[in-house]
Amino acid sequence: MQSPEKPRVFSGIQPSGGLHIGNYLGAIRNWVRNQDQYDNIFCIVDLHAITLPQDPAALRENTLDLAAIYLASGIKPEQAMFIQSHVSAHAELAWVFECFTPIGWLERMTQFKDRTARQGRERIGAGVLTYPSLMAADIMLYDAEYVPVGEDQRQHIEYTRDIGQRINQRYGNILVIPEPLIQKAGAEIKGLDDPEKKMSKSLAADSPGHAIFMLDPPDLIRKKLARAQTDAEPAVRFPAGPGVRNLLEIYRTIKQLDWPAVEREFEGKPYSALKSAVADGVIEVLAPIQQRYREIRSDDAALLEQLRGAADRLTPVANATLHRVQEAVGLR
Ligand code: TYM
Repeated sequence: MQSPEKPRVFSGIQPSGGLHIGNYLGAIRNWVRNQDQYDNIFCIVDLHAITLPQDPAALRENTLDLAAIYLASGIKPEQAMFIQSHVSAHAELAWVFECFTPIGWLERMTQFKDRTARQGRERIGAGVLTYPSLMAADIMLYDAEYVPVGEDQRQHIEYTRDIGQRINQRYGNILVIPEPLIQKAGAEIKGLDDPEKKMSKSLAADSPGHAIFMLDPPDLIRKKLARAQTDAEPAVRFPAGPGVRNLLEIYRTIKQLDWPAVEREFEGKPYSALKSAVADGVIEVLAPIQQRYREIRSDDAALLEQLRGAADRLTPVANATLHRVQEAVGLR
Protein backbone atom coordinates (compact mmCIF):
# COMPACT_ATOMS: atom_id res chain seq x y z
CA MET A 1 0.00 0.00 0.00
CA GLN A 2 2.80 2.43 0.79
CA SER A 3 5.29 2.95 -1.96
CA PRO A 4 7.59 5.78 -0.91
CA GLU A 5 8.89 6.35 -4.43
CA LYS A 6 5.50 7.57 -5.66
CA PRO A 7 3.83 10.74 -4.34
CA ARG A 8 0.72 10.08 -2.33
CA VAL A 9 -2.73 11.09 -3.53
CA PHE A 10 -5.85 11.25 -1.38
CA SER A 11 -9.36 11.98 -2.56
CA GLY A 12 -12.93 11.20 -1.59
CA ILE A 13 -16.57 11.45 -2.54
CA GLN A 14 -19.67 11.60 -0.34
CA PRO A 15 -22.06 8.63 -0.53
CA SER A 16 -24.98 11.03 -0.47
CA GLY A 17 -26.84 9.78 -3.54
CA GLY A 18 -26.23 8.93 -7.17
CA LEU A 19 -23.04 10.19 -8.75
CA HIS A 20 -23.40 12.52 -11.73
CA ILE A 21 -21.13 13.10 -14.70
CA GLY A 22 -19.65 16.14 -12.92
CA ASN A 23 -18.30 13.80 -10.22
CA TYR A 24 -17.06 11.46 -12.91
CA LEU A 25 -15.42 14.01 -15.22
CA GLY A 26 -14.16 16.30 -12.42
CA ALA A 27 -12.80 13.57 -10.16
CA ILE A 28 -13.06 9.79 -10.71
CA ARG A 29 -11.95 9.79 -14.32
CA ASN A 30 -8.76 11.66 -13.41
CA TRP A 31 -8.06 9.31 -10.52
CA VAL A 32 -8.35 6.37 -12.87
CA ARG A 33 -6.23 7.90 -15.60
CA ASN A 34 -3.37 8.89 -13.30
CA GLN A 35 -3.51 6.05 -10.79
CA ASP A 36 -0.23 4.42 -11.81
CA GLN A 37 1.72 7.63 -11.24
CA TYR A 38 0.73 7.88 -7.58
CA ASP A 39 0.34 5.99 -4.34
CA ASN A 40 -3.43 6.42 -4.07
CA ILE A 41 -5.98 6.44 -1.29
CA PHE A 42 -9.61 6.78 -2.36
CA CYS A 43 -12.15 7.31 0.37
CA ILE A 44 -15.92 7.03 0.70
CA VAL A 45 -16.59 9.91 3.04
CA ASP A 46 -19.67 8.77 4.94
CA LEU A 47 -18.99 11.06 7.91
CA HIS A 48 -19.20 14.02 5.55
CA ALA A 49 -22.43 12.64 4.09
CA ILE A 50 -24.22 12.80 7.45
CA THR A 51 -23.73 16.57 7.63
CA LEU A 52 -27.04 16.49 5.73
CA PRO A 53 -29.96 14.23 6.75
CA GLN A 54 -29.55 10.68 5.37
CA ASP A 55 -31.89 7.73 5.48
CA PRO A 56 -29.82 4.99 7.23
CA ALA A 57 -30.66 2.22 4.74
CA ALA A 58 -30.02 4.54 1.79
CA LEU A 59 -26.68 5.62 3.27
CA ARG A 60 -25.53 1.99 3.55
CA GLU A 61 -26.66 1.32 0.00
CA ASN A 62 -25.03 4.49 -1.38
CA THR A 63 -21.79 3.61 0.38
CA LEU A 64 -21.57 0.25 -1.39
CA ASP A 65 -22.71 1.82 -4.64
CA LEU A 66 -19.92 4.35 -4.48
CA ALA A 67 -17.30 1.67 -3.83
CA ALA A 68 -18.67 -0.35 -6.77
CA ILE A 69 -18.57 2.73 -9.00
CA TYR A 70 -14.95 3.46 -8.08
CA LEU A 71 -13.99 -0.06 -9.14
CA ALA A 72 -16.30 -0.16 -12.17
CA SER A 73 -14.79 3.13 -13.38
CA GLY A 74 -11.37 1.50 -13.42
CA ILE A 75 -9.82 2.05 -10.00
CA LYS A 76 -7.60 -1.02 -9.67
CA PRO A 77 -8.54 -3.36 -6.82
CA GLU A 78 -5.04 -3.09 -5.34
CA GLN A 79 -5.54 0.65 -4.66
CA ALA A 80 -6.47 1.59 -1.11
CA MET A 81 -10.22 2.19 -1.18
CA PHE A 82 -11.99 2.48 2.15
CA ILE A 83 -14.90 3.90 4.15
CA GLN A 84 -14.00 6.98 6.21
CA SER A 85 -15.91 5.94 9.36
CA HIS A 86 -13.97 2.65 9.48
CA VAL A 87 -10.84 4.59 10.51
CA SER A 88 -11.66 6.47 13.71
CA ALA A 89 -8.58 8.71 13.47
CA HIS A 90 -10.46 10.91 10.95
CA ALA A 91 -12.98 12.12 13.52
CA GLU A 92 -10.28 12.40 16.22
CA LEU A 93 -7.90 14.55 14.18
CA ALA A 94 -10.80 16.65 12.88
CA TRP A 95 -11.64 17.56 16.48
CA VAL A 96 -8.12 18.90 17.08
CA PHE A 97 -8.24 20.89 13.84
CA GLU A 98 -11.62 22.35 14.81
CA CYS A 99 -10.15 23.58 18.07
CA PHE A 100 -7.33 25.36 16.22
CA THR A 101 -9.55 26.87 13.52
CA PRO A 102 -10.96 30.38 13.92
CA ILE A 103 -14.76 30.20 13.45
CA GLY A 104 -14.47 33.05 10.94
CA TRP A 105 -12.45 30.85 8.56
CA LEU A 106 -15.25 28.28 8.51
CA GLU A 107 -18.03 30.85 8.24
CA ARG A 108 -16.38 32.27 5.15
CA MET A 109 -16.53 28.96 3.24
CA THR A 110 -18.75 29.15 0.14
CA GLN A 111 -20.41 25.83 0.93
CA PHE A 112 -21.37 26.99 4.44
CA LYS A 113 -22.64 30.33 3.15
CA ASP A 114 -24.73 28.61 0.42
CA ARG A 115 -26.29 26.14 2.82
CA THR A 116 -27.15 28.73 5.46
CA ALA A 117 -28.54 31.08 2.80
CA ARG A 118 -30.75 28.29 1.46
CA GLN A 119 -31.89 26.73 4.73
CA GLY A 120 -31.13 29.13 7.55
CA ARG A 121 -28.72 28.63 10.45
CA GLU A 122 -31.29 26.99 12.72
CA ARG A 123 -32.02 24.18 10.29
CA ILE A 124 -28.59 22.81 9.48
CA GLY A 125 -26.24 20.89 11.75
CA ALA A 126 -22.92 22.23 13.05
CA GLY A 127 -21.18 19.57 10.92
CA VAL A 128 -21.82 21.76 7.88
CA LEU A 129 -19.66 24.44 9.54
CA THR A 130 -16.86 22.12 10.69
CA TYR A 131 -16.94 20.04 7.47
CA PRO A 132 -13.59 21.42 6.19
CA SER A 133 -11.75 20.36 9.37
CA LEU A 134 -12.78 16.76 8.75
CA MET A 135 -11.68 17.04 5.14
CA ALA A 136 -8.30 18.44 6.25
CA ALA A 137 -7.95 15.48 8.60
CA ASP A 138 -8.78 13.03 5.77
CA ILE A 139 -5.99 14.40 3.64
CA MET A 140 -3.27 15.09 6.19
CA LEU A 141 -3.65 11.84 8.16
CA TYR A 142 -1.96 10.07 5.25
CA ASP A 143 0.67 12.73 4.47
CA ALA A 144 -0.96 13.13 1.05
CA GLU A 145 0.86 15.49 -1.30
CA TYR A 146 -1.87 15.83 -3.92
CA VAL A 147 -5.65 15.98 -3.85
CA PRO A 148 -7.35 15.47 -7.24
CA VAL A 149 -10.76 17.19 -7.14
CA GLY A 150 -13.10 19.44 -9.10
CA GLU A 151 -12.97 23.23 -8.89
CA ASP A 152 -15.60 23.44 -6.13
CA GLN A 153 -13.21 21.83 -3.63
CA ARG A 154 -10.38 24.33 -4.13
CA GLN A 155 -11.42 26.45 -1.16
CA HIS A 156 -11.53 23.43 1.15
CA ILE A 157 -8.01 22.49 0.15
CA GLU A 158 -6.86 26.05 0.75
CA TYR A 159 -8.30 25.74 4.25
CA THR A 160 -6.50 22.40 4.64
CA ARG A 161 -3.21 24.11 3.78
CA ASP A 162 -3.95 26.98 6.17
CA ILE A 163 -4.77 24.79 9.17
CA GLY A 164 -1.79 22.54 8.38
CA GLN A 165 0.54 25.53 8.25
CA ARG A 166 -0.91 26.92 11.48
CA ILE A 167 -0.18 23.64 13.30
CA ASN A 168 3.26 23.37 11.70
CA GLN A 169 4.19 26.93 12.73
CA ARG A 170 3.22 26.22 16.28
CA TYR A 171 4.65 22.72 16.73
CA GLY A 172 7.33 22.20 14.06
CA ASN A 173 6.77 20.55 10.71
CA ILE A 174 4.56 17.65 11.73
CA LEU A 175 2.08 17.76 8.83
CA VAL A 176 2.57 17.45 5.07
CA ILE A 177 0.90 20.40 3.30
CA PRO A 178 -1.05 19.11 0.27
CA GLU A 179 -1.76 20.69 -3.10
CA PRO A 180 -4.92 20.45 -5.16
CA LEU A 181 -4.79 18.72 -8.55
CA ILE A 182 -7.52 20.36 -10.64
CA GLN A 183 -7.59 19.56 -14.35
CA LYS A 184 -8.35 22.19 -16.98
CA ALA A 185 -11.07 20.09 -18.63
CA GLY A 186 -14.17 18.94 -16.75
CA ALA A 187 -13.38 20.65 -13.44
CA GLU A 188 -16.70 22.45 -13.29
CA ILE A 189 -19.56 20.82 -15.21
CA LYS A 190 -22.74 22.90 -15.03
CA GLY A 191 -26.40 21.88 -14.69
CA LEU A 192 -28.11 20.92 -17.95
CA ASP A 193 -31.21 22.87 -16.95
CA ASP A 194 -29.29 25.91 -15.68
CA PRO A 195 -25.74 26.35 -16.96
CA GLU A 196 -25.08 29.17 -14.51
CA LYS A 197 -25.06 26.64 -11.67
CA LYS A 198 -22.63 23.82 -10.93
CA MET A 199 -24.08 20.34 -11.58
CA SER A 200 -24.82 19.08 -8.08
CA LYS A 201 -26.55 16.21 -6.34
CA SER A 202 -28.69 18.55 -4.26
CA LEU A 203 -30.01 20.56 -7.23
CA ALA A 204 -30.71 17.32 -9.11
CA ALA A 205 -33.09 16.29 -6.32
CA ASP A 206 -35.45 19.15 -7.24
CA SER A 207 -35.07 19.02 -11.02
CA PRO A 208 -34.77 15.68 -12.86
CA GLY A 209 -33.29 17.38 -15.94
CA HIS A 210 -30.42 18.95 -13.98
CA ALA A 211 -27.87 16.14 -14.05
CA ILE A 212 -26.93 12.96 -15.88
CA PHE A 213 -26.29 10.25 -13.33
CA MET A 214 -23.65 7.60 -13.88
CA LEU A 215 -26.25 4.86 -13.65
CA ASP A 216 -28.84 6.51 -15.94
CA PRO A 217 -29.96 4.24 -18.81
CA PRO A 218 -29.06 5.40 -22.36
CA ASP A 219 -32.58 6.53 -23.33
CA LEU A 220 -32.79 8.73 -20.23
CA ILE A 221 -29.37 10.23 -21.00
CA ARG A 222 -30.57 11.10 -24.52
CA LYS A 223 -33.78 12.57 -23.17
CA LYS A 224 -32.01 14.75 -20.60
CA LEU A 225 -29.52 16.02 -23.18
CA ALA A 226 -32.26 16.70 -25.73
CA ARG A 227 -33.85 19.03 -23.16
CA ALA A 228 -30.58 20.68 -22.08
CA GLN A 229 -30.59 24.43 -22.22
CA THR A 230 -28.89 26.02 -25.26
CA ASP A 231 -28.91 29.52 -26.78
CA ALA A 232 -31.47 31.39 -28.83
CA GLU A 233 -29.29 30.99 -31.98
CA PRO A 234 -30.43 28.44 -34.59
CA ALA A 235 -27.05 26.67 -34.65
CA VAL A 236 -23.71 26.48 -32.83
CA ARG A 237 -21.86 29.83 -33.11
CA PHE A 238 -18.79 31.10 -31.28
CA PRO A 239 -18.46 32.60 -28.79
CA ALA A 240 -21.20 30.25 -27.56
CA GLY A 241 -23.51 30.91 -24.60
CA PRO A 242 -23.15 29.05 -21.29
CA GLY A 243 -25.51 26.14 -22.12
CA VAL A 244 -23.73 25.30 -25.36
CA ARG A 245 -20.32 25.81 -23.76
CA ASN A 246 -21.26 23.33 -21.05
CA LEU A 247 -22.29 20.68 -23.60
CA LEU A 248 -19.06 21.26 -25.51
CA GLU A 249 -17.09 21.04 -22.25
CA ILE A 250 -18.65 17.63 -21.49
CA TYR A 251 -17.85 16.50 -25.02
CA ARG A 252 -14.27 17.74 -25.10
CA THR A 253 -13.52 16.27 -21.65
CA ILE A 254 -14.79 12.85 -22.68
CA LYS A 255 -13.06 12.96 -26.07
CA GLN A 256 -9.91 14.64 -24.72
CA LEU A 257 -10.07 17.46 -27.28
CA ASP A 258 -8.97 21.07 -26.97
CA TRP A 259 -11.29 24.02 -27.65
CA PRO A 260 -10.14 24.77 -31.22
CA ALA A 261 -10.86 21.14 -32.17
CA VAL A 262 -14.42 21.16 -30.80
CA GLU A 263 -15.07 24.56 -32.37
CA ARG A 264 -14.02 23.20 -35.76
CA GLU A 265 -16.17 20.12 -35.26
CA PHE A 266 -19.40 21.91 -34.29
CA GLU A 267 -19.29 25.41 -35.81
CA GLY A 268 -22.56 25.95 -37.71
CA LYS A 269 -24.04 22.55 -36.74
CA PRO A 270 -27.60 22.40 -35.38
CA TYR A 271 -27.98 21.92 -31.63
CA SER A 272 -29.57 18.53 -32.24
CA ALA A 273 -26.27 17.31 -33.77
CA LEU A 274 -24.28 18.60 -30.81
CA LYS A 275 -26.68 17.02 -28.32
CA SER A 276 -26.68 13.65 -30.00
CA ALA A 277 -22.85 13.67 -30.24
CA VAL A 278 -22.65 14.43 -26.51
CA ALA A 279 -25.19 11.69 -25.77
CA ASP A 280 -23.22 9.15 -27.84
CA GLY A 281 -20.00 10.10 -26.05
CA VAL A 282 -21.52 9.94 -22.56
CA ILE A 283 -23.26 6.61 -23.25
CA GLU A 284 -20.10 5.11 -24.73
CA VAL A 285 -18.20 5.93 -21.54
CA LEU A 286 -20.92 5.00 -19.05
CA ALA A 287 -22.29 1.77 -20.57
CA PRO A 288 -19.26 -0.42 -19.69
CA ILE A 289 -19.05 1.17 -16.22
CA GLN A 290 -22.72 0.33 -15.61
CA GLN A 291 -22.15 -3.25 -16.70
CA ARG A 292 -19.16 -3.70 -14.36
CA TYR A 293 -21.02 -1.93 -11.57
CA ARG A 294 -23.80 -4.54 -11.73
CA GLU A 295 -21.28 -7.37 -11.60
CA ILE A 296 -19.50 -5.88 -8.59
CA ARG A 297 -22.73 -5.20 -6.70
CA SER A 298 -23.75 -8.84 -7.18
CA ASP A 299 -21.22 -9.76 -4.46
CA ASP A 300 -21.53 -7.24 -1.62
CA ALA A 301 -19.73 -9.51 0.85
CA ALA A 302 -16.56 -9.45 -1.26
CA LEU A 303 -16.82 -5.70 -1.68
CA LEU A 304 -17.22 -5.11 2.06
CA GLU A 305 -14.31 -7.40 2.79
CA GLN A 306 -12.11 -5.40 0.45
CA LEU A 307 -13.20 -2.12 2.10
CA ARG A 308 -12.60 -3.47 5.60
CA GLY A 309 -9.21 -4.86 4.63
CA ALA A 310 -8.09 -1.49 3.28
CA ALA A 311 -9.31 0.29 6.43
CA ASP A 312 -7.36 -2.18 8.58
CA ARG A 313 -4.19 -1.56 6.60
CA LEU A 314 -4.65 2.21 6.69
CA THR A 315 -5.44 2.49 10.40
CA PRO A 316 -1.80 2.37 11.60
CA VAL A 317 -0.80 4.92 8.94
CA ALA A 318 -3.54 7.29 10.09
CA ASN A 319 -2.80 6.68 13.77
CA ALA A 320 0.86 7.57 13.31
CA THR A 321 -0.14 11.09 12.20
CA LEU A 322 -2.88 11.37 14.80
CA HIS A 323 -0.42 10.46 17.56
CA ARG A 324 2.15 12.93 16.23
CA VAL A 325 -0.42 15.72 16.49
CA GLN A 326 -1.77 14.54 19.86
CA GLU A 327 1.75 14.49 21.29
CA ALA A 328 2.53 17.95 19.94
CA VAL A 329 -0.63 19.36 21.48
CA GLY A 330 -0.12 17.59 24.82
CA LEU A 331 -2.80 14.94 24.53
CA ARG A 332 -0.34 12.05 24.76
P1 TYM B 1 -18.40 15.64 -3.51
O1 TYM B 1 -18.86 14.34 -3.00
O2 TYM B 1 -19.35 16.79 -3.51
O3 TYM B 1 -17.86 15.53 -4.98
C1 TYM B 1 -16.93 14.54 -5.34
C2 TYM B 1 -15.97 15.06 -6.40
O4 TYM B 1 -16.67 15.50 -7.57
C3 TYM B 1 -16.27 16.81 -7.90
N1 TYM B 1 -17.42 17.52 -8.47
C4 TYM B 1 -17.44 18.10 -9.68
N2 TYM B 1 -16.50 18.20 -10.64
C5 TYM B 1 -16.85 18.84 -11.79
N3 TYM B 1 -18.07 19.37 -12.01
C6 TYM B 1 -19.04 19.30 -11.08
N4 TYM B 1 -20.24 19.82 -11.31
C7 TYM B 1 -18.74 18.63 -9.85
N5 TYM B 1 -19.46 18.38 -8.72
C8 TYM B 1 -18.63 17.70 -7.90
C9 TYM B 1 -15.84 17.43 -6.59
O5 TYM B 1 -14.97 18.55 -6.80
C10 TYM B 1 -15.15 16.28 -5.92
O6 TYM B 1 -13.82 16.15 -6.39
N6 TYM B 1 -15.72 17.57 0.21
C11 TYM B 1 -15.69 16.59 -0.85
C12 TYM B 1 -15.43 15.18 -0.37
C13 TYM B 1 -14.20 15.01 0.44
C14 TYM B 1 -12.86 15.04 -0.02
C15 TYM B 1 -12.04 14.77 1.10
C16 TYM B 1 -12.29 15.27 -1.27
C17 TYM B 1 -14.15 14.73 1.76
N7 TYM B 1 -12.86 14.58 2.16
C18 TYM B 1 -10.66 14.74 1.00
C19 TYM B 1 -10.91 15.23 -1.36
C20 TYM B 1 -10.10 14.97 -0.24
C21 TYM B 1 -17.03 16.60 -1.54
O7 TYM B 1 -18.03 16.97 -0.99
O8 TYM B 1 -17.04 16.05 -2.76
